[in-house]
Amino acid sequence: MKTLLNDTAEPTSGEKHMTGETLRITGGRPLRGRVEVKGAKNLATKAMVAALLGETTSVLRDVPDISDVQVVRSLLEVHGVTVEEGPEPGSLTFDPRGAVAAHFEEIDAHAGASRIPILFCGPLLHLLGEALIPDLGGCRIGDRPINFHMDALRAFGAVMDKSYEGIRITAPDGLHGAAIELPYPSVGATEQVLLTAVRAKGTTELRNAAIEPEIMDLIAVLQKMGAIISYEPNRVILIEGVETLRGYDHRCIFDRNEAASWACAALATDGEIFVGGAKQQEMLVFLNVFRKAGGWFDVHEDGILFRRDGSLKPVMVETDVHPGFMTDWQQPLIVALTQAEGRSIVHETVYENRLGFTAALNQMGADIVVHPDGLDTPDRRVPRRALEQAAVINGPTPLHGADVVVPDLRGGYSYLIAALAAEGESIVRNVDILRRGYEKLFTKLDALGADYDVIG
Ligand code: EPU
Repeated sequence: MKTLLNDTAEPTSGEKHMTGETLRITGGRPLRGRVEVKGAKNLATKAMVAALLGETTSVLRDVPDISDVQVVRSLLEVHGVTVEEGPEPGSLTFDPRGAVAAHFEEIDAHAGASRIPILFCGPLLHLLGEALIPDLGGCRIGDRPINFHMDALRAFGAVMDKSYEGIRITAPDGLHGAAIELPYPSVGATEQVLLTAVRAKGTTELRNAAIEPEIMDLIAVLQKMGAIISYEPNRVILIEGVETLRGYDHRCIFDRNEAASWACAALATDGEIFVGGAKQQEMLVFLNVFRKAGGWFDVHEDGILFRRDGSLKPVMVETDVHPGFMTDWQQPLIVALTQAEGRSIVHETVYENRLGFTAALNQMGADIVVHPDGLDTPDRRVPRRALEQAAVINGPTPLHGADVVVPDLRGGYSYLIAALAAEGESIVRNVDILRRGYEKLFTKLDALGADYDVIG
């Protein structure tokens, strides 16, 4: 039975965004029940930025109640955009007509750990002729470079001035369409190009673009605003710039990352979870791997039911850009793979350091060996990248409780389900980080019968 030892933690729809929450979790109990996923974090935050480009108000529906949305909301507000809740619960209305420039310190104070300020560049250049990116290259951005973004903006005619506060970007001759080829199909850089090209003079041809479903949904948002965007085979996107855009009314695509997370929670804890709002089409690749790993699922009109189908089996997975297996899916899957009978291999090819979280799983009894320079294994589908790593997971290994600190969003979620699957008691610290991408986390854990206390 859950006791709330901390009065400030509300496991209700009024959940607060706190820092450093600590949970005491008693594991070994299957998670069973129903959770709902709402709009995708990785679309909602970008669609909010797009609202800046319209000359009239925009309405975004099914916006998740997560801290990344709060960050973008406050960044819009410091730029003079009026943001209101409504017209229906879970929706936001944006009025960009009072948009104004903000100072480095204001942007910095509201940006938190988010990379979203980078995506404000194109819209702010169109609107105000200037965009500021604070604290570039600081530890907040860490190893995640923004060179593709900067190169793309330069191709549009933007000019960068570095100062001790950050980077000031202007476009003395305006922004004009460009031929841009990304060195890698980066999600953020593709969004940068889209948000800039829609109002640039002339046509932009973007090659090697990311084509994630969230990007396709952003294209739909921009088209509703009046943009002319088409996509062609082989990752080519064509954008014909227009002079003005209007506001939009859009319901966000569902969060397939959160849906996959709960599916893996069912697999890891040997439970049964119905993920309301999950759709098959955007999760095809995940569902294949889920099935091969010993999962069972049933697609319904309003969601997908997930559970185990007998014992878990080892799999070989390579993360990749869409239509590959998402890098955000591997962390919760790895928890389940610790219970598979045999040796699994996960190649992380998208980010250069996204397997560090496995050390804490080893502390809980897992047998995971990380190869920091990757591994050459037969039957690879994704071309080998210089920065990749691989995790070899030997199972099954019973998990036991441990004291662990959430390192990041997806790694942190995997600690949560590892603790829920493990025998005994775990302490999971810094759980507030999960609020960046998992809305109403406590409400959902309660609905699934998780045994935990908030202890700090
Ligand atoms: N990259 C560069 N230079 C750049 C931009 C990217 O080298 O200028 C590299 C990155 O270092 C990385 C690769 O390109 O190795 C891919 O990065 P990408 O730009 O695609 O990632 P992102 O846009 O920063 C988004 C999501 C991530 C998700 C990735 C991949 C948002 C806010 N974030 O990041 O989501 O993992 O795409 O799909 O949309 C998460 O939800 O936990 C999360 C991290």
